[in-house]
This record gives sequence, structure tokens and C-alpha cells, in this order.
Amino acid sequence: MRVELGPRSYDIHIGNDWLEQLIPHLESFSRNSRLVIITDANVAEIAGQRLLELMQSRGFKADLAVFPGGEDHKNLAAVQALTAKMVELGLDRQSTVIALGGGIPGDVAGFAASIFMRGIPHIQIPTTLLAQVDSSVGGKTGVNLPQGKNLLGTFHQPRLVFIDVNFIRTLPEREYLTGLAEVIKYGIIWDADFFAYLEENLDPIGHREVDCLLHMVNRCCAIKAAIVAQDETENGVRALLNLGHTFGHSFEALTGYRRYNHGEAVAIGMACAARLSHHLGILTTQDRDRIVSLIFRSGLPISFSNLDSSDIIAQMQRDKKTVGGRLQLVLPTGIGTCQLCADLSETEIALVLG
Ligand SMILES: NC(=O)c1ccc[n+]([C@@H]2O[C@H](COP(=O)([O-])OP(=O)(O)OC[C@H]3O[C@@H](n4cnc5c(N)ncnc54)[C@H](O)[C@@H]3O)[C@@H](O)[C@H]2O)c1
Ligand SMILES: [Zn+2]
Repeated sequence: MRVELGPRSYDIHIGNDWLEQLIPHLESFSRNSRLVIITDANVAEIAGQRLLELMQSRGFKADLAVFPGGEDHKNLAAVQALTAKMVELGLDRQSTVIALGGGIPGDVAGFAASIFMRGIPHIQIPTTLLAQVDSSVGGKTGVNLPQGKNLLGTFHQPRLVFIDVNFIRTLPEREYLTGLAEVIKYGIIWDADFFAYLEENLDPIGHREVDCLLHMVNRCCAIKAAIVAQDETENGVRALLNLGHTFGHSFEALTGYRRYNHGEAVAIGMACAARLSHHLGILTTQDRDRIVSLIFRSGLPISFSNLDSSDIIAQMQRDKKTVGGRLQLVLPTGIGTCQLCADLSETEIALVLG
């Protein structure tokens, strides 16, 4: 499928157990110049070495650059080390970066590519469910600052996104579920049929059946591609992808990024958003219950404990998505539809935070 962005358009290829099929797509990138695969230590072992050997055996000048991974290493120090290595390896302005791994290598490698010698091309090969359905598409790159997540970054669209759902097989259960939270998000904000599909197929989805993985990744990428094509730099409709995220970022930050991972925090955030919508009279009881129940039945949390509502709101106000100190929240108005609300009072929000 294609992400239509004029001169920055690119294709997303989705398949199962077909990593070798990447090679023909690499032919359009210069054979004379080097490619570097950037990945984290885990993925280097699971897939990095294999991909490197595959590329070298087909005559590409390729190298592997590995960083430790994890949110603690999604920072400028990692970018500095990786770009220094890129200079050492002899990369030039014709070179290409291959971001291999979850959202963290994807964001870090994309960011490095966007600033290396004022910007070189990159390819995304996502290996987590979250990265396959969300972070690899759309061109957002970045790293964290000690003051907050993703505070430094660029928009730098990849030239190609190559997805092999076979990578999902080795993903730890908790990482699979974090991706599932984003999958559910697409159903809530955009696609009632897809939401119903998820409701009806939770069992095979839980068993990671290939047909389900392919259907979920295809549907989510199609929705994300449509949204990004309409609003590349998030001035409008792209903001809908933040459903549950302003709440979620607050839960993550207040618990020091230790208690909840991203998807768990977003899952609780989406449940809070559904309750708030219902409270405001813009979501029926039935739809609120369907949303909360799908999140719960998929194995994700729907409520938090030991957090103070005023702390949550204060933290939400520090979110990057806040405009002029005003909280903007994405709120569901039905299954498959939602709206951006900018005029909510703290009292209203506090009510659903218990
Ligand atoms: N750019 C965007 O648009 C965007 C969107 C959403 C999230 N993000 C970012 O994505 C990051 C989270 O991504 P993530 O959840 O993929 O985290 P991650 O990259 O840290 O991956 C999670 C863990 O799974 C391991 N892993 C990766 N692939 C594996 C595989 N196939 N088998 C076994 N283990 C594997 C990794 O080594 C890591 O330990 C956050 O930093 C978030 O800010 C970016
Ligand atoms: Zn997210």
C-alpha cells in the first residue's frame, strides 16, 4: 500500500516470513554506497545478524550499528554514538539507514538519518506489533530529553516500510499487548467494522494467528497512511491518533516509566476517554461499555491505582500536545468516530479520574 505524500510518497509492504523479499526493493537504493542497519541489542541477535548476512550475500555494502535500546537509551547520546559510527563506517550523503526493531530503534535511527549530513534516506523494518501498526509509518522520529519523552525530533518520512509479521512470533506477551492497545485505538477512532472484527476474533488474535496479524497490520497501516496523507505534520486529523495518549503519557510519567509500558498506559487512557465522553453525554452507555470491555478482554488494564487526580491533570497540562496551556483531548463519540475537544474543565476531567 502507498502513503501518498507527493514527492515524499512511499510504499508499505506487508507479508509473512518473507524477509528475503526485501532485497529486490533495495535495488533502487545506490549499490555504490553503504547501508547501515541500526538496531537494539535484542533485535541484533534475533534478526540483525541474519539481515546483515542476507544483504552482504547479495552484494550490498552493509554494516550493523547496535545500541542498547530501551527508553533510557532513546537519547542524544545514542544518536551521537550511532552517527559517529556512521562516519567511521564511511557513510556518505548517498547512504541509507535501515531502522530495524521496535519503535525505539525506529525513532532513533529515523532521527539519526534525518540529521546525518543534513539528512539521508531511511527504510523502516519494524519488528514489534506497535512499530508495525504505528511508529514505522508517518515519519515522526525523535529522542527523549531528561525533561520528557520525544521532546527532540523531526518529520522525516521513510523511503520504504517493509513489514514481516513473522517477527511478531518472538515478541514477549507484554510487548504484544502494548501493540494491541494501538490496534484497538484505530478501531475506536476510525473503523467500526475493524472494531467489531477485534471483538469477534480476540481468541485467534491472542494466539497470534498469521491471518489475524496480517489483517490487523494491513488495516492499521491503511488507516494510518490515510490519516498521514491528509495531515503529515499533525495540524488536524492526525491528532486523532493521540486518543488515550494525553492521559497515558501522564500515567507513564507519574510512575517514572516503570509501572506501565506505553500500551498499558494508553489502554487506561482510552478507557478514561470513553468514560469522560459518556459523562459529557457524547457517547452512549453501550458504546462506552464496548470500548472498555474490548480493552479489558484483550488483557490490557482499564484503570490505574495510587495516583492522585490533581497530579494526573497537572502532568497532562505539561504534555507536548497542550496548546497555550489548554488541554486538548481526543474523545470518542461512537465506535469508529471521535472528536478533538479543547474546552474541557479540570473538574470534568477529574470526575472520571476517581
Ligand atoms: N514515531 C512514531 O510515530 C511513534 C508512534 C508510537 C510510538 N513511538 C515510540 O515507540 C517506542 C515504543 O516502541 P516499542 O514498544 O516497539 O519498543 P521497543 O523498540 O523498545 O521494543 C520493545 C522490546 O521488544 C524487543 N523486540 C523488538 N522486536 C522484537 C521481536 N521481534 N522479538 C522479540 N523481541 C523484540 C526490543 O528489543 C525491546 O526490548 C516509544 O519510544 C514511543 O515513543 C513512536
Ligand atoms: Zn502510542
